[in-house]
Parts: sequence; structure tokens; C-alpha cells
Amino acid sequence: MEVLKLLLFPTLFLATVTAEYVRPLPRKTLPILRDSFSRTHSSYPSQVHVSLAGDKHMRVTWITDDNHSPSFVEYGKASGRYDSIAEGESTSYSYLLYSSGTIHHAVIGPLEDNTEYFYRCAGKGSEFQLKTPPSEFPITFAVAGDLGQTGWTESTLAHIDQCKYDVYLLPGDLSYADYMQHLWDNFGTLVEPLASTRPWMVTEGNHEKESLLFLMDGFVSYNSRWKMPFKESGSTSNLYYSFEVAGVHVIMLGSHTDYDEYSEQYRWLKADLSKVDRTRTPWLLVLFHVPWYNSNKAHQGAGDDMKGAMEPLLYAAGVDLVIAGHVHAYERSKRVYNGGLDPCGAVHITIGDGGNREGLAHRYINPQPKWSEFREASFGHGELKIVNSTHAFWSWNRNDDDESVKADDIWITSLVSSGCVDQKRHELRSVLMTS
Ligand SMILES: *[C@@H]1O[C@H](CO)[C@@H](O)[C@H](O)[C@H]1NC(C)=O
Repeated sequence: MEVLKLLLFPTLFLATVTAEYVRPLPRKTLPILRDSFSRTHSSYPSQVHVSLAGDKHMRVTWITDDNHSPSFVEYGKASGRYDSIAEGESTSYSYLLYSSGTIHHAVIGPLEDNTEYFYRCAGKGSEFQLKTPPSEFPITFAVAGDLGQTGWTESTLAHIDQCKYDVYLLPGDLSYADYMQHLWDNFGTLVEPLASTRPWMVTEGNHEKESLLFLMDGFVSYNSRWKMPFKESGSTSNLYYSFEVAGVHVIMLGSHTDYDEYSEQYRWLKADLSKVDRTRTPWLLVLFHVPWYNSNKAHQGAGDDMKGAMEPLLYAAGVDLVIAGHVHAYERSKRVYNGGLDPCGAVHITIGDGGNREGLAHRYINPQPKWSEFREASFGHGELKIVNSTHAFWSWNRNDDDESVKADDIWITSLVSSGCVDQKRHELRSVLMTS
């Protein structure tokens, strides 16, 4: 059956998943990891990952083949001594010939900040260890989009693992399973060593959609496997949500669902922005998949509609930093709004360079636009260390022949510290009331 699927799927869907650009030097997709493909120990938890789930809580997600396996997590601060237990829920889905394992989600907490916890899923299998994020600055985010599961993905993950980060932010395109559902299992196994130890906060990209006309709705696999705290943030969709951690309000938007001013996402975004308290969270970050400021020829202009609809709202709210993926390269802008330099605009970063199988996007528009400060087509990852309410240090590290080499870095000062946010308070209020 698996052989049949392997033969069938690429030919059926080649037209929809082939990239528009010829990108050189991709690395091969990694071989199927035995653990995820055969899933031999049917009730043993596999593909464990954790995510933030509201104040002082985290969601633990894992998969078993056995649908009678219970959905509880035991946890505590000492290895092998679990003094707390949390009951969860489970789900599963079918995708044509494929049936997923049982996907379990359990929320643990309240947890102490900046603390190591040991945990075990369903009373079976290995013990895992996670660290909760701090409640105050400094906090460090690791960032890379368009991850995939190739040799380059492996080196990006190894470099992220070497950096001391608290939370990983992924602006879309996770597994590049592209309809071949067992590749989602393979991806879950590949990322488990990192994703079981630090919260992974993700938003969807085009490769998560996997819809089939009349047969499959979009995002079935993604929503089942990568449940994010959308209910906790007042959203009705896993495709957009927000969370707060250590003085930072992070908004994860959806480039691949409705975003115009009549949409549910737009309504939710306005409500979420109106709740942001910059004395509690001086930093405001936004992530989504398709970039609004991109001088690469790949996907040129693809983010324009969403930018037209939502940029005024983000500007009025004083968003510090916008992070996107989609373009398989790295680019950093100066503070920009409505196409021009603006000291109260956001810094836009495109970082779709995690290492997917499609390779890099090498061709740029010349001359380089005034708003574009740094651009390079290499695989790599970013690190954002927010030091205090006014200063953050951003660096981008390229995968140079498997070494991590810092290629771009900059201190970013917050809009709160430059007086932009005070000036904007009444502006936001009027935008929120009129639109
Ligand atoms: C914030 O951090 C920066 C960079 O380390 C430092 O120069 C500045 O004095 C700090 N501000 C406060 C209020 O601590």
C-alpha cells in the first residue's frame, strides 16, 4: 500500500506542488526515519512536541498508533518523579488512503517560569525534558521558516540546537509533506529532539494546505498535528492566534486564509491589538508566511493584497518587527511603512531559509530598494534576543558548508522607546473605530 502511494501521489499532484522557480543546490530529502514509518510499538508515544498554551501553561502533543492509548501527561521537576498529571484529548484524521495515528494533546500547568520539567506521555516510553520560558527579559527566540526535511534542515536544526533559545518561531511551511501524509510523521520524528524540549510556535504556509477539490478541506493534517493556542487567544481558527511571553506580544497571522477587512481574521486582529498593553508587553511582533517587503524575484508581489488590507492596522498599533518566510532566502528591511522609510514602521524580516527541498531563491531585483538593508540567498536561521524593554539583538546565521556563521546582526530599539507608540495611541483608536 505504501509503495502504491509513493508511486501514485507525485504523479497526481506534481503540477500543484512544483515550484515556479528553478532553485539550485537543494539537498536530498532525508530517508524515512524508521521510528515514524513503521511505528512498531503501537502504544508508545512518538513525535512529541510542546507549545505555549496560555499563561504558565504548555501543550504537549504526541502520536500513538494504538487508539486506546490514554491522553495523559505526568510531569514534575525531578527526573522520574512526577507529582502532577494532566488529562488531555485525542484526535485523528484520514487522508485518502492514509489513516493517522492517534494524536494526543494535553495541557500541563500552571508551570513555574524558566524551569526544567521532566515529563512522560501516557505512562509509557521515554522521559522527556522541557524548559519553560522566562517571565521577564531577556528572552531569546530562534527563527527559521520553510523548514522541510532535507540535509539542510538537519544542519539548520543542529545550529538552532546549539543556540540558547527559549521559544522557536516558525513562519510557515513545516514538513513539505505535500499530500504524502507519512512525511508528516517523518517530520514529527525529525524535529522531536528540539520540539519536545522548547515550545515551538508555528503558523501555516502554503505547503500546509493540502486541499483536494471535493475531497479534502485544507489544513486537515496541520490543524490536527500542530494545535496552537488559538482558543486561549480568543481566535476561532488554528490558522491565526497570539500569545504573550516575557514582555513580548506575538501575533501569528494566516497568509492562507481570509484577511480582508470583512474577514473573521481581520476582526480578531483588531480585537487582539486593542488588548495589547505596552506597559506589560513593550515589544510587539507579528509573523505570517508570505512577506510584504521582498526584493527577491521569487514570489514578487505575492504578499501585496494582505499588506494592503492589514499593514495600516499593524502600523497604527506600532508593531516592532514582522517576520515572514515563503521566499527561500534571507532579507532584512529598515523601518518601513507603505513602501517608504518610516521611523515608526516595522522592521520586516524574510527568513524562508530553513532548508526545504526546493532549494534557494537566488535572483534579486536591482537596484536594491531603499528599504532593503541586507539580503542573501543562503540557508540559515535567526536569533532574536530581547534584552530589555528598549533593546533587542537580532542575528542571522547562515549554514556555510554545515558551519553556522553569523552573517548579519543588528541592535533594534523598540518603538515604545522611540516615542512612536504614544504618538500612535489615538491613531490606533481611530483606526479601530472606523474600519
Ligand atoms: C537595555 O539594554 C541595552 C543594551 O544592553 C542597554 O544599553 C540599556 O542601558 C538597557 N536599558 C535599560 C533600561 O536597562
